[in-house]
Amino acid sequence: MNKSIAVAAFLTSALLPFSLLTQSPSLTIQPSLTIEVDHPTSKVSPTLYGLMTEEINYSYDGGIYGELVRDRTLGHEWDAIRLWPTVARGDSIVNVSADDSSGPSPALTRSLRVTVSKASESSPAGVENAGYWGIPVRPHIAYSGSFYAMTDSPGIPVTVTLQNDQTGVVAASAAVTGLTGEWKRFTYTLKTGDVPVSSNNHLILTIAKPATVWLNLVSLFPPTYHDRPGGNRADIMNLLAGMQPKFLRLPGGNYLEGEHIAERFDWKKTIGPWVDRPTHMSPWHYRSSDGMGLLEFLEWCEDLKMQPVLAVYAGYSLAQEHVDPGPALEPYVQDALDEIEYVTGSADTKWGAERAKDGHPAPFPLRYIEVGNEDQFDHSHSYDGRFAQFYRAIKQRHPDLQIIATAPVKSVAPDVLDEHFYMSAAQSFSEAHHYDAADRNGPKIFVGEWATREGDPTPNLEAALADAAWLTGLERNSDLVIMSSYAPLFVEVNPGGMQWAPDLIGYDALSSYGSPSYWTQVMFSTHLGTEVVPAALADAPPRVFTSVTRDDTTHKLFVKVVNATSTSQSVAISLTGVKKLAPQAKLTTMSGKTPNATNSITHPDAVVPITHTVSIAGPKFTRTFAPYSVNVLELSY
Ligand code: AHR
Repeated sequence: MNKSIAVAAFLTSALLPFSLLTQSPSLTIQPSLTIEVDHPTSKVSPTLYGLMTEEINYSYDGGIYGELVRDRTLGHEWDAIRLWPTVARGDSIVNVSADDSSGPSPALTRSLRVTVSKASESSPAGVENAGYWGIPVRPHIAYSGSFYAMTDSPGIPVTVTLQNDQTGVVAASAAVTGLTGEWKRFTYTLKTGDVPVSSNNHLILTIAKPATVWLNLVSLFPPTYHDRPGGNRADIMNLLAGMQPKFLRLPGGNYLEGEHIAERFDWKKTIGPWVDRPTHMSPWHYRSSDGMGLLEFLEWCEDLKMQPVLAVYAGYSLAQEHVDPGPALEPYVQDALDEIEYVTGSADTKWGAERAKDGHPAPFPLRYIEVGNEDQFDHSHSYDGRFAQFYRAIKQRHPDLQIIATAPVKSVAPDVLDEHFYMSAAQSFSEAHHYDAADRNGPKIFVGEWATREGDPTPNLEAALADAAWLTGLERNSDLVIMSSYAPLFVEVNPGGMQWAPDLIGYDALSSYGSPSYWTQVMFSTHLGTEVVPAALADAPPRVFTSVTRDDTTHKLFVKVVNATSTSQSVAISLTGVKKLAPQAKLTTMSGKTPNATNSITHPDAVVPITHTVSIAGPKFTRTFAPYSVNVLELSY
């Protein structure tokens, strides 16, 4: 019982006879919410809700990046060819090995050597790939494929097949001809017919005669979002679009830093044709294809109308490796300046011209640069000096850019400070007022990573309720907190797919779903408003939270009420300062029977918001909020 309830209960019991007290349920004290509609206190940050991503939990390769072939650059796994087993039909004989002496480019210097010593049309032999927990197949789809190859038997055709593991049915097949003794890129299309939807398929490459074929960059893409060649998975992009995110923090996270300096996100090695991208080890213990390179990140922003929040590598990697400020750091500062030019420079600048050559002549908008990631973990305490060096160089060339620090610094004043919060549900509830009394004279705040960590692989309803409570605090304080992004965003839900739990959106090869926490964010970000309105919640039990905003152009009032208790809460709502009020409002509610209720790949819609029209009697009315619920009441005034 909170203090006000306890006091009120004592006063009531002092005045009433005992029999009445014990009998009357109507003596429960009703929570009240008084909203001063005509006295907004501050602006809501229009960029409050955005996305943070990195290569973790198979977020890009095997996730949003549409590539269906796993280990397409071949042989970087521990035993080099684990993901490329042999295929030997009938009495054919084949041997596969990683060849370190021949690759298609200076960036990709090795390849898969497929040596077939016995094969025929009826007994072909070669290699296969299982994709990321299966290759999905759907009917009547044209899949776009490519690979690099050379052979010791010029003219030998390679047959590419998509075959179902269980039924053996071939969904599509194509013959690729023209192989020579030199490395060359080949393309193919696999068109499926009237086949059932399935995820348990392999991509198989075979030859029907004895020969040796060298392969690399074997690729297969389904149709992608906005039909971008080498683009993103449409279902996952659609989920993101539903969040109406305003920015994308890229490329990490720990993924920016790498375990070692040599494993940082070295952006120059992630642009241009795939064959020029050497790939790199991610700190989350698998190799990144770098198919999701800098330009792909920017196009992802373009597709969802988000602004990039570009994190530049700042000379610190996770294994406590750092670069001292001063001359040693200069090349890294220059890399960051070049990166900014690649993003924003016109096509007649050096790096703007590279971007144009890569297929995007128009510059991208850019306002925020983040210098590093979680640099408070750098035991050398070099961040102050490193940040100042980046800050001065960037501001000198780009005074309009807002520069984000990842840890407090003293030498220069950052425009924005990135703060991270990974919390239990209890912590998220108790931190809902974290910023209420925070200093308004320092930098603006970017909550660049946050999550309530309950549920696995994706958050449950308890986490979503706690997230909602936390978000009421960010929203109320969005004069200070200008941006926020949940982390991590994605998880491949199959065993072995996850390095960190929980994650906002789950998927397998075929489908994807939003967790209850995802839906909390959809509810908040699609009812943002432009101004914060004072709202006094009284006599409410613990685990009830609220924030109220209004939109000063559409005259909508958004009343968010989080009822994380196990009972319904009937709240007396009073709006002051409204001249007129529409008699009908929209109430969107997400709730469940228990805090452990959740969504999953097999039950993606168990906990989702539902919208009803409700009648509003006038500026004073009572609304009952379901147990374990997140609610947005949208009124027109
Ligand atoms: O979100 C997972 C990790 O948590 C991020 O990579 C890192 O920035 C943080 O420590």
